[in-house]
Amino acid sequence: MSQTVRGVISRSKGQPVELVDIVIPDPGPGEVVVAIQACGVCHTDLTYREGGINDDYPFLLGHEAAGIVESIGAGVTHVEVGDFVILNWRAVCGECRACKRGRPHLCFDTFNATQKMTLTDGTELSPALGIGAFADKTLVHQGQCTKVDSTADPAVAGLLGCGVMAGIGAAINTGAINRDDTVAVIGCGGVGDAAIAGAALVGARRIIAVDVDDRKLHTAREFGATHTINAKDLDAVDTIQDLTDGFGADVVIDAVGRPETWKQAFYARDLAGTVVLVGVPTPDMKLEMPLVDFFSRGGSLKSSWYGDCLPERDFPTLISLYLQGRLPVEKFVSERIGLDQVEDAFHKMHAGEVLRSVVVF
Ligand SMILES: NC(=O)c1ccc[n+]([C@@H]2O[C@H](COP(=O)([O-])OP(=O)(O)OC[C@H]3O[C@@H](n4cnc5c(N)ncnc54)[C@H](O)[C@@H]3O)[C@@H](O)[C@H]2O)c1
Ligand SMILES: [Zn+2]
Ligand SMILES: [Zn+2]
Repeated sequence: MSQTVRGVISRSKGQPVELVDIVIPDPGPGEVVVAIQACGVCHTDLTYREGGINDDYPFLLGHEAAGIVESIGAGVTHVEVGDFVILNWRAVCGECRACKRGRPHLCFDTFNATQKMTLTDGTELSPALGIGAFADKTLVHQGQCTKVDSTADPAVAGLLGCGVMAGIGAAINTGAINRDDTVAVIGCGGVGDAAIAGAALVGARRIIAVDVDDRKLHTAREFGATHTINAKDLDAVDTIQDLTDGFGADVVIDAVGRPETWKQAFYARDLAGTVVLVGVPTPDMKLEMPLVDFFSRGGSLKSSWYGDCLPERDFPTLISLYLQGRLPVEKFVSERIGLDQVEDAFHKMHAGEVLRSVVVF
């Protein structure tokens, strides 16, 4: 048995997304069907649509989601029917060489559902980040479900499933920001603002937000930015140095992911400082820089996948902080939309009008 529900797919490069019927198999061993309650629109969904991730069209988009476990397959013990869960794209395997060395946040072989969701003609879908949650229901591996406090608003909770976790984790896990650090964040969309919120949570002493859009800089202050720079008007590197006693920031986070923003991050850092790349570059992007600068400036150049998070450790904690009013995740929800409005949401994202549009069901 299977069931047919609605889902938002990207059929070919750069073409508008389509709302179509999709077929969800009954959960097999280790698999779970989740009834989606909310799913945020992340820049990575747009990157899939634009062919920036791979060519495995058609994609079933959506991956920042929360919902209720509807049915479970054989051998599922991790969640029960009725559980309120956030979906994750890091269901650690426990067996790969990273896991075996005690580094599960780097797991090289994360679990996804084994069976395929399809179009009604049988065409197999590639779910975005192994999730595919712009759909009434989706099929995932049990490890992709993290049970959290069911009093949380699903539209808010779902955002922890990708962008907000990626940003907070880039700051506090990958960047290991401390209370006496100076921090700069380049790009203040959902991910960058989450990095700012993370830096504020751990007490960074100065948090400099950089964007090319004044509206984004205004919102960045609400998440804890102490200073803002519009990189269209001012030189980002010089201004970050001016704001850090001429030295540069201890940690600079590139939440855009372009060669020019990464270079700014590199040079806006204090000696021996840390660069964290969390924005996702496209395959055509190249970087050319003097090798001696890498050597002479020292420090640490990192990339952050999913904020180096462990969903089972981090999601319940962050939900608890949110419910206590200590982490303003609700401010990321700019608007609530229907499943038929994802394409509009991409345009709004592109125009810088929203932090997160969230599809609610
Ligand atoms: N590493 C991960 O695990 C992970 C997870 C989720 C998203 N991402 C990536 O993070 C990036 C940001 O995602 P988002 O959802 O916040 O996107 P977004 O489009 O909402 O935000 C991007 C922001 O960058 C700003 N910007 C663009 N060019 C700039 C420039 N030259 N200088 C300064 N600011 C500039 C834009 O004005 C915008 O505010 C994307 O590349 C996304 O794919 C990474
Ligand atoms: Zn592993
Ligand atoms: Zn995402």
